[in-house]
Amino acid sequence: MIDYTNSKLLLDASNIPVGEVVWRSPSNLAILKYWGKHGIQLPNNPSLSMTLQNAYTDTVIKYSPKEDYARGIDLDFHFHAEPNEAFKAKIISYFESLLPIFPFLEQLKLDIHSGNSFPHSSGIASSASSMSALALCLCTMEDQFFGTLEEDTAFDQKASYVARLGSGSASRSIFPGMALWGQTGQVEGSSDYYAVPLGDRMHEGFKNYHDDILIVQSGEKSVSSRAGHGLMDENPYAPTRYEQTKKTLHNLLAVIDKGDFEGFGKIAEAEAMTLHALMMTSNPPYLLMDPNTLAIIKKVREYRAETKQPLYFSLDAGPNVHLLYPEEIIHDVRLFIEEELLSFCEEGMMISDWVGEGPEEIDLEVEGS
Ligand code: PMV
Repeated sequence: MIDYTNSKLLLDASNIPVGEVVWRSPSNLAILKYWGKHGIQLPNNPSLSMTLQNAYTDTVIKYSPKEDYARGIDLDFHFHAEPNEAFKAKIISYFESLLPIFPFLEQLKLDIHSGNSFPHSSGIASSASSMSALALCLCTMEDQFFGTLEEDTAFDQKASYVARLGSGSASRSIFPGMALWGQTGQVEGSSDYYAVPLGDRMHEGFKNYHDDILIVQSGEKSVSSRAGHGLMDENPYAPTRYEQTKKTLHNLLAVIDKGDFEGFGKIAEAEAMTLHALMMTSNPPYLLMDPNTLAIIKKVREYRAETKQPLYFSLDAGPNVHLLYPEEIIHDVRLFIEEELLSFCEEGMMISDWVGEGPEEIDLEVEGS
């Protein structure tokens, strides 16, 4: 077990710095899904995702000395230039939980500005991008103050660990290409505490693999991921599900290694259906798909049968549909989307995305900062 508790990371009280850090961090789409957890944000099975490029969060943390020293976290939070009390409360409790890891947070006044690249109410879960962006900022602050995370692997590992404490899926957003989170004998160095990059295990063909996100319904989900994970504790199918993920991971790693788009797509679809089946078999049972989700799924299957092209779908914990396909068929797929699928989307909304290059530290003026 890894423990980042470090009471030495305290600043010299007579010389508290003023400065800022900025990170852009992407969302990710799990192909093998994480659903069910225990302890402090530890997964009940390994998960594997592709990091996205276009759906990201930009986060700026400005820091300065606290005016009056008092215990606890002192921060202001703006989302797209507007004060946001609900997010602020979440970040305060997240940072409070991180005080044993970053005790210097209690010495600073923090001013955080954040914004997403995707429409605010697109229904895209932003916890992976927002929590990973915050975690990256905190690790950069630690490194600026103490020079303790100069080595890239150590930096990424700690950022992934810290991101995980904010949102499990965020642990995987730290890495480009594809990443795996959860201890398994099938991937060396894997851990329940942080994610690891697949690196060269990913076939070249996936480097520009697409994920177009069809927005069927924007807005808040009726059942949060947190509640959904919780319901897995009593789900009678959960033990079988966790057992099944071992074989699925084995097969998924093989198709990723080979660049087998058909094999990859089949696993993505089966996992999406399984995730939603687990929701439907929870107590109380619930349903996050919409009639238009099913209409799109049917169309995608018909398209595949007719064209023999490797166009597949995935779902996250919501009604929106991710369309997965290789670069080679982009022309045909885009025509199909426009002619047959956009009518099922809210205001014809779609986010065009693909396998991404991972987070970047940037020098940018976030709106309103
Ligand atoms: O990171 P959380 O706690 O919001 O859970 C994410 C769960 C799924 O998105 C449904 C699957 C996954 O592995 O990302």
